[in-house]
Amino acid sequence: MNKNIIVTCALPYANGNIHLGHLIEHIQSDIWVRFHRMQDHKCFFICADDTHGTPIMLKAEQLGISPEQMITKIHSEHLNDFKNFEIEYDNYYSTHSPESQELVYKIYHNLQNNHKISKKTINQLFDETKQMFLPDRFVKGTCPKCRALDQYGDSCEVCGATYSPIELINSYSTISGSKPVIKSSEHYFFNLSECVDFLEEWLNNDNRLPIEAKNKMQEWLNAGLQDWDISRDAPYFGFKIPNTTDKYFYVWLDAPVGYMSSFKNYCDTNNLDFEKIWNSNDTEIYHFIGKDILYFHALFWPAVLNYSGYKTPNSIFVHGFLTINGQKMSKSRGTFISANTYLTTGLSPTFYRYYIAAKSSNKIEDIDLSLEDFVARVNSELVGKFINIAARSSSFLNKYFVNKLTKHIYNISLLELIQNKKTLIHGLYLNREYSKALKEIMLLVDEINLFVDNTKPWLLAKDDNKHEELHQICSILINAFRLITIYLKPIIPSIAKQIEKYLNIKELKWHDLDTILYDHQINKYTHLLNRIDNTMVDKLIEINNNNTTVTKTQQYEEIAEQISIDDFNKIDLRIAKIINAKHVEGSDKLIQLTLDIGNEIRNVFAGIKSHYNPNDLIGKHTVMIANLAPRKMKFGISEGMVLAGSFNDKNSGVYILHPDNGAQAGMRIR
Ligand code: MSP
Ligand code: ZN
Repeated sequence: MNKNIIVTCALPYANGNIHLGHLIEHIQSDIWVRFHRMQDHKCFFICADDTHGTPIMLKAEQLGISPEQMITKIHSEHLNDFKNFEIEYDNYYSTHSPESQELVYKIYHNLQNNHKISKKTINQLFDETKQMFLPDRFVKGTCPKCRALDQYGDSCEVCGATYSPIELINSYSTISGSKPVIKSSEHYFFNLSECVDFLEEWLNNDNRLPIEAKNKMQEWLNAGLQDWDISRDAPYFGFKIPNTTDKYFYVWLDAPVGYMSSFKNYCDTNNLDFEKIWNSNDTEIYHFIGKDILYFHALFWPAVLNYSGYKTPNSIFVHGFLTINGQKMSKSRGTFISANTYLTTGLSPTFYRYYIAAKSSNKIEDIDLSLEDFVARVNSELVGKFINIAARSSSFLNKYFVNKLTKHIYNISLLELIQNKKTLIHGLYLNREYSKALKEIMLLVDEINLFVDNTKPWLLAKDDNKHEELHQICSILINAFRLITIYLKPIIPSIAKQIEKYLNIKELKWHDLDTILYDHQINKYTHLLNRIDNTMVDKLIEINNNNTTVTKTQQYEEIAEQISIDDFNKIDLRIAKIINAKHVEGSDKLIQLTLDIGNEIRNVFAGIKSHYNPNDLIGKHTVMIANLAPRKMKFGISEGMVLAGSFNDKNSGVYILHPDNGAQAGMRIR
């Protein structure tokens, strides 16, 4: 096969850490690339940091360093994070590079020659103190529709209205606090409105996008497209637009060009012809991205490529967002876990890769990292069922057969069963249905463990006359283990490597599924992977809670403006009797409450230590939410929440609710 495959992930912004949400796409794509490489397909795996734009410029300023210094430091941190999670990029580069500048200029010139660039004068908000135009996200004010205070310049989080920042009432710059003025400036536009026919055709070509994404794009196309503003005024960190003194390319123009420039940098250092490979009919280009940046990748990007004379992507693979225990990743909620935080707890990257694979499909679904489920799946499936196969046979092989497999296996039906799933599992990997692939693989692993239970090697070992049979069983098990390792290798590469060493074999490839090892010397078994220790997960939660720098007041902003009676009825509010209350050792915030709610006793940790004495609470009645999802905390599981009144700052006190005399534990509040 002479085909080349170029695979990319969205370029992470160079102003923050890689977190577990980012890692979804890097893991999904790395699995896909490794799967291809196991078949010796030529696959280029490419990414870079996205380094330009106002937020990056301002962040560096805040830190008192130059943007160049900041992006250099972050680049090495990102590289390190990806290496630690076994993401094997061919090149991880930067959009702040000569290759990027060269390609951005070339693309811009080609677009100009194709009459796809125009100039228009527009009005924008300008910060006179800071002497800069304000991006929408750097203006706040009162919503012109519903009058909610403190809304961003582009849309209202309370009523959902979208508007121009100029319409905001009492607007202020979030950079200097001053009131912005309206100022006009000439901007450069990419004539996206002229690309509808092309995009229509592009979109309806086979499998460009997952169906849900395609429908969304079609909606946008039907609504008509606006020309796209691709310039920003100085001061800006980015590439200057040729023949201007104070205009820069908008970061989202140069960001996807980073896919090309990173690949060009790779080609230049490896004596390959970038233009030829990118544009070849034998090259397939695939972008892995999150659902929030679909618009850029499915509309702007193919149009820019097409009208500048470059090949457009074959498909865009879109994933959903990561939630943690059902909650959005958020710094204020303490559900933000960086790649580095995860690793400092001692949790193996293999576990996270396995879990993400187990939850990945080719649909745009959000993925929930439920910590309980995470521990359960890794421990029972990966370690308990899979790794255990080797552990269950290795001691006998070592003790009785000098770690050598038998010359002949009389009954290979179990191995054939595994081999026969090859086409099915291949297809699932190819379609990025990793969750389904793992289900099939784990069914096979169950069969293998059943085989052990039925053949009972530990009994055979006790009887000298049964050792030939024991040798058969152990040789079958090691072969089964090897075949399953091939199936799992894209997901757990470093463990697969250790297994190759243990089995004394070369790098496993996909075609190795067709063979069986006979008369083969393996090495002495050394332990491959430990179970997740619960203290590691506790540590993860603990580090996170300590990292919660922003006060929890932000949660109040997310309250819905209006809810239906059905929404209210979903909440199981109950009268609870506090039957015990005590301090939590090691916590300066929490009191542990034991609550009687009629038919059940609940354990709840309440953050009221600075306002209540435990002894004063015992015997009182209060109100709790009984159907809140249990939350694992450092000190145990909290099974609900008691209700209290407070202002955002809590300095004015916290007052838990008490019902009138006569209310009994278990009563529902309606
Ligand atoms: N720099 C742009 C992408 C430019 S691509 C030419 C960007 N960067 S980002 O750092 O905000 O996001 C990088 C990728 O991570 C995106 O695909 C985004 O969807 C993904 N994710 C960021 N947060 C995420 C979650 N919480 N969950 C899953 N994916 C998330 O956008
Ligand atoms: Zn509003």
